[in-house]
Amino acid sequence: MTGVTRHLFLICSMCVVTFQLLAQNRTVQVLEEGWAFKKGKSSDAFKVQFDDSKWEQVTVPHDWAIYGPFDKDIDKQNIAISQNNEKEATEKTGRTGSLPFIGTAWYRNTFEVPSFETGKTVILLFEGVMSEPEIYLNGEKIGEWKYGYSYFYFDISNALKKGKNTLAVKASNPEFSSRWYPGAGIYRNVSLIVKNKESIDQWGTFITTPLVSDKLARVNVKTQVSGEKITLKTTIYDADKKWVTTNSSTTQFGKSFDQNLKVEHPKLWSPETPYLYTVVSQVYVDDELKDELTTRFGIRDIKYTAENGFQLNGKTTKFKGVCLHHDLGQLGTAINKAALRRQLTILKDMGANAIRSSHNMPSLEQLELCDEMGFLFLAESFDEWKKPKMKNGYHRFFDDYAEKDIVNLVHATRNHPSIVMWSSGNEVPDQWGAEGLKRAKKLQDIFHREDPTRPVTVGMDQVKAVMESGFASLLDVLGLNYRVHLYEEAYEKFPQGMILGSETASTVSSRGIYKFPVVQGKGKQYPDLQSSSYDLEACSWSNVPDEDFVLQDDKDWVIGEFVWTGFDYLGEPTPYDNYWPSRSSYFGISDLAGLPKDRYYLYRCRWNKKEETLHVLPHWNWEGREGEITPVFVYTNYDSAELFINGKSKGIQKKNKDTPQTRYRLMWMDVKYEPGTVKVVAFNKGGKPVAEREIKTAGKADQLVLSPDRKIIKADGKDLSYVEVSVVDKAGIPCPIATNQLKFKVTGKGRYRAACNGDATSLEQFHLPIMKLFSGKLVVLVQSTKEAGKMELTVSGKGLKTAKVILSSKD
Ligand code: GAL
Repeated sequence: MTGVTRHLFLICSMCVVTFQLLAQNRTVQVLEEGWAFKKGKSSDAFKVQFDDSKWEQVTVPHDWAIYGPFDKDIDKQNIAISQNNEKEATEKTGRTGSLPFIGTAWYRNTFEVPSFETGKTVILLFEGVMSEPEIYLNGEKIGEWKYGYSYFYFDISNALKKGKNTLAVKASNPEFSSRWYPGAGIYRNVSLIVKNKESIDQWGTFITTPLVSDKLARVNVKTQVSGEKITLKTTIYDADKKWVTTNSSTTQFGKSFDQNLKVEHPKLWSPETPYLYTVVSQVYVDDELKDELTTRFGIRDIKYTAENGFQLNGKTTKFKGVCLHHDLGQLGTAINKAALRRQLTILKDMGANAIRSSHNMPSLEQLELCDEMGFLFLAESFDEWKKPKMKNGYHRFFDDYAEKDIVNLVHATRNHPSIVMWSSGNEVPDQWGAEGLKRAKKLQDIFHREDPTRPVTVGMDQVKAVMESGFASLLDVLGLNYRVHLYEEAYEKFPQGMILGSETASTVSSRGIYKFPVVQGKGKQYPDLQSSSYDLEACSWSNVPDEDFVLQDDKDWVIGEFVWTGFDYLGEPTPYDNYWPSRSSYFGISDLAGLPKDRYYLYRCRWNKKEETLHVLPHWNWEGREGEITPVFVYTNYDSAELFINGKSKGIQKKNKDTPQTRYRLMWMDVKYEPGTVKVVAFNKGGKPVAEREIKTAGKADQLVLSPDRKIIKADGKDLSYVEVSVVDKAGIPCPIATNQLKFKVTGKGRYRAACNGDATSLEQFHLPIMKLFSGKLVVLVQSTKEAGKMELTVSGKGLKTAKVILSSKD
């Protein structure tokens, strides 16, 4: 290159840089790397932040408590759980997961805002900090929040200085503040948004679809802006990024623009067709582009009517839903999109179409995925209002924060088509008393004010009380938690003309564990602290799935259910709240590792109408039970089936309406155990054999089988492959009771992240590369690095052939 051309080249490359800076009128920087973390309290907040000792390097999202160790004394609660109808206080261990989340910790990060001098607006956005965060910038406190589940932000434009800025976040978790494992620390994203003064306000767009038909949709876009003399150009693009329509407006109502756009022949959003459009909002001042924001939305119509229940795009749709806690099992609460996507993939296969975020604000990532994958969403705000459930619960903040928390929930999430209902509370003790009534009204009014398009419910358990007080009558949607025996009465007495099973079942089971004799029971306990997978055990206040199914199927006015819960979660180990070791729930349809329990197939055969389900239980390795009664259950979408034990027929069972169980399950109650083969042949309505399944008694555990959910993952340092590890005998028959201790090693462009076996009584730490199989299985998580390439997981165990699987990552 000559001197002249070199000079020109430099000028040109400078032009490119300048141009890029100018064109980037809004930048969003997610602060993931470079965080320092330390635990411990100090009375001198300034000193802690600038004392350089004892910081540990972490990435955010981060959950400081998930690494354990489990300890029965953490947050030990000596209480009577009133929701569980307990009258006397007893010692509860494991209620909040027995993980070390109590206490205070600090996070610190240093960042620079390059265009700071140019007078930009800088927003610091937090999507969730557990809990009671205090935010400091360069040593000065700039704000705080209380609720660990809220999204919140601060305008830090005036607090920033040129060059390096030091951000510090203090998080504190008091004891007796939660009924489950809440996690600890900055467990959701933090971002820095830099934009011009003339720009769209944070969460300033609100897109609704007030008119929807096959031919035409009216899309209403309300946009809140800062600045004057603005021209707002709003453009809709379809899912292929093709232009659909544009509206330009200079008509500003104070801070707001209100535009209507026509979409002809719209593609409607639904769980089956999760079609997404985008709105691009551009702010111009004197023809100069000042801000640009892209927001995804869906065109769909929702109605709730006494005559037809919930209508989605004109079609009666029942909620086939599950409640989910926010923890991601072995990852704790640190948000991870791959983990969320896997949960939803499992739920899709089961045929679920809805999620309730119990009992708090969902992550934004979860909502994005629900929009994309097609799930209806019931977004909940609180588990407590003003009357306490927990000594240090949300009631301490209710007066000052309830409105702010709801406003932020609605503003941050209202453009997600998946959200079709809000819930202002779950089983709040305020169901009792006149004040509670006023609070219910006030909160519902706030939701209505902020979002007139979606109804509000409360998950209610005090059905008699809310019938008398009128509490339930004022709600848009009547949400009942359990209490199936009161549905009819509630339907008669309340004005809404429909009932939602806002929480149903709470059946308990441990994957692969079966108890004898097989009889239905409430609050059953066993010496091994496991519950039976015959799916006949519930709590004193709850019921088995079939009892809900009867109401869902026979009553048009029941608009669906949200089963407690889709997955096991950390904490709340009912029915073993008083026993140690027991640190996670038994309620899940799938276990804590995401492995389906038998119950999964009971729901699948109802909900997944597209695929065949033919599932047989229990396993057939019962050495010592020879000759003893060992009932066989089959969960299938077929009407009848014949059972064969070692080739001998045990007769045909046909679904019938004698009891809720015989209506939904095929059961052979008097089968005597003998080792060998269990075969089931299913028949269609015409009595023709159409499908069969076989399970066999396994011999000694011999080899490991590794099955990754995804073999190719993204090289972003966050993506995960979930590798299911199981063990089989020499003939390849799965060993259903194996508990071998296994070791894991990952080499190449990946790292071992965590493992989980779904055993609620295991005290093994998830992040250590060693764990026992539970009922013959566990799951290992392999995480990508930022470098693309191959990675190899090796799993070994004493007396077993070592197994390997090669995975790869791509940019
Ligand atoms: C409900 C409550 C849930 C969970 C469940 C267990 O009453 O809303 O949070 O505790 O019971 O059955």
